[in-house]
Amino acid sequence: MIYNHNIIQRQYDEIIAPSFDMDARGIYASTYQKGIIQLQNTNLLQSKTPLQVLDIGIGTGSFLEQVALLCEGEINLFGIDISEKMLDIAKRKIPSLRTIVDNATNLEHHYVERSFDLICSHFVTGFVPMRELAPKIWNLLDEGAYWSLIGQTMTSYPNLRKIEDSLASKLIRWFSGNSKLDYDIVCCPEERSEVIEIFQENGFEVRQIETFEPKIDFANLDDFLDFGYYSGWLTPFIEKLGIQNASKMLSLMINVLLFPVHDNQSIEIALARKITK
Ligand SMILES: C[S@@+](CC[C@H](N)C(=O)[O-])C[C@H]1O[C@@H](n2cnc3c(N)ncnc32)[C@H](O)[C@@H]1O
Repeated sequence: MIYNHNIIQRQYDEIIAPSFDMDARGIYASTYQKGIIQLQNTNLLQSKTPLQVLDIGIGTGSFLEQVALLCEGEINLFGIDISEKMLDIAKRKIPSLRTIVDNATNLEHHYVERSFDLICSHFVTGFVPMRELAPKIWNLLDEGAYWSLIGQTMTSYPNLRKIEDSLASKLIRWFSGNSKLDYDIVCCPEERSEVIEIFQENGFEVRQIETFEPKIDFANLDDFLDFGYYSGWLTPFIEKLGIQNASKMLSLMINVLLFPVHDNQSIEIALARKITK
């Protein structure tokens, strides 16, 4: 695996943070809504004691903002993220948020005196393996507390993958001098069954799980870059291909030979509960 955290940090700080909340296709918002419904199916948000909630890879804080609004009692919110710029936006939304700028792979060095009722990890298991996060999250949760996970699996974008193997793509790679994509630059679970397996192997009981497969159509390269590059969905791949800086000639070739593309994502939305190992 060759995910490079410095590259991801730069991409979120410099490219993605300013446009992340635009959520042009509304997919982030739809998944947060589904994650919130899973929480509402428990009695967590009616807690009589102050809720302790941590979001790992919190980004711009939209999910915790909603959790705070729906929580009936007191709530203490914590967030860790590798991107300071994403956290700056989160703090503007939630002034009481306590933040740490760090790599989630260092999670065990933080919050040593704390434990949580809810830990969220949403769209971060592409950058930090779910298998690596699971035991660290388990250690930070109280018995019976919850892990809300939202993340894509490798079954996302089946048609973009087919295109990557097509003759037209080979021609474009030859013309632009780019090599074939290496999918190891992200570390998402392969599919839903792996998500469930990781929960179970690490002392969690899956209480609710839903696979969300929104359709996405790309009319042309600009449309694809708006979604894939500036909103963060495929930034590491696109930067590797260099097509965000494509010349007029290359853009024309890509538009004629590859677009439009009709595809779908595959996103797991799960709520798991800590049990004794
Ligand atoms: C797709 S965004 C999701 C943000 C938020 N969880 C949400 O669902 O709106 C991914 C976030 O994970 C953060 N991130 C990526 N790699 C990270 C790492 N190794 N440690 C901590 N945060 C990371 C990024 O900076 C970004 O804010």
